Amino acid sequence: MAVGNEGKVQSVLKRVLDDIKPSQSEIVAANAVSNDIMGRLKRAVPKNVEIILAGSVARGTQISGNSDIDIFLLFPRSMDKGEMERKGMAVARKIVKKGKGERFVIKYAEHPYLQLVFKNPPVKADIVPAYKIRDSFEMGSSVDRTQLHNEFVLKHLTQRQKDDVRLLKAFMKFHNVYGAEAEREGFSGYLCELLIHHYGSFVSLLLAFSNLKLPLCIDAKNKEIVKDPEAFKRFGSEFVVIDPTDSERNVAAVVSETALARMVLMSRKFLLNPTEKFFYGAEFSDERSSGKLKRIAREMGVDIYFLTFMVPDISRDIIFQQLRRLCARLEKSLGDNSFGPVLSLYNMDGKDAVIAFFVNRYAIASVARAGPEVFMKGACEAFTKQRKTTYIRGYKIISIDKAQYRNPAELLRHEVKGDVPSHLSSAKLSLNSVPERHAKLVYRKYVEATTI
Ligand code: UTP
Ligand code: MN
Repeated sequence: MAVGNEGKVQSVLKRVLDDIKPSQSEIVAANAVSNDIMGRLKRAVPKNVEIILAGSVARGTQISGNSDIDIFLLFPRSMDKGEMERKGMAVARKIVKKGKGERFVIKYAEHPYLQLVFKNPPVKADIVPAYKIRDSFEMGSSVDRTQLHNEFVLKHLTQRQKDDVRLLKAFMKFHNVYGAEAEREGFSGYLCELLIHHYGSFVSLLLAFSNLKLPLCIDAKNKEIVKDPEAFKRFGSEFVVIDPTDSERNVAAVVSETALARMVLMSRKFLLNPTEKFFYGAEFSDERSSGKLKRIAREMGVDIYFLTFMVPDISRDIIFQQLRRLCARLEKSLGDNSFGPVLSLYNMDGKDAVIAFFVNRYAIASVARAGPEVFMKGACEAFTKQRKTTYIRGYKIISIDKAQYRNPAELLRHEVKGDVPSHLSSAKLSLNSVPERHAKLVYRKYVEATTI
């Protein structure tokens, strides 16, 4: 290994691991809860349904304080899907003890599942109906794979590597790239497990990431790098980690370019200067975010355009996907109309969602619009005929048009009146000033985005 300060790295990692590895008593408490639920489930399900503990708790890769338990109900493959879902939901309902302050929430991934919420200890348990399968050929839906993931990780990761998964998760969490949710578009727990398996250790992984070159396709099963360009075409991505339990699946499919890039930068920075600050650094204050944003805007010489929304109480994933789509579309439209933002951010919490564009302060009257090349006779005539002032640049005809929008506000007001994603129809535009709760959402994302 080519780390110059190996000793320092190891002592930092040891200290961090002491903090993030669940204590024996935490594990005992979590086991007691999961045994209790599994016992209740066993009494409530027919004999042909198998109950397994899955996820990081079963694999020994969970980090302290994150005691979420994943339990899968495995139904026979012969059962109809609708029936399986109905039975799965009904069973979970039966076992809730409302008198003890327990409650359940229906959640939606690819299929509905239940989340049991306990009061004491404060633990959440996901209870997910799936089919019992032996390999991915029998798969009905993607949750069916989880049992195979369990087997792979339990079989192939050493105790030491499981601790390295914990370090990797903590590192990624702190840098906001952990989790496959739409909010993060980052690395899932299972992806962390596969990456540690492939690279062997946390430090080797950081070394590899700090020198990462794309395209990269990892065959996690055989710990090999796949060179065949076909692989990238097949998965439609430059960063591929093939699921050892299903060769058709890229476990890294949701990892965004930004999340991957951030990991590359953070790996380099940590190896250069290994400290605990890469796992839990100075907390920033988001008090008076509104004032802080105003100062940032003043120093940059920009205006901040805020779009605020009241969003329904549905899956965060759906809202985040819609925010990302709308933000990207408006950013492009601003750019096309000469108002390209220097930074765009979006965020949500509860009923509040917000998109913010940091845009230079200018008003415009005319825009230059590129038309066809002179070689395209018909198109050229049509283009010049409709326009007052045109000139040639390179092979193209350029027209000077009256700006459709004289400032970003006109454009944004017009755009949000048009076709917006379903849950974002309540857009309200504000310039430079928003209520503190919206400002906090933007300021937090600002700090997150600009801390590299
Ligand atoms: P979790 O999201 O709870 O992940 O999904 P985890 O591995 O237990 O990690 P932490 O410690 O709670 O954060 C439970 C299982 O569901 C499957 C994986 O097998 C995972 O271990 N899963 C989940 C996926 O395959 N893909 C996903 O995007 C999410
Ligand atoms: Mn989990």
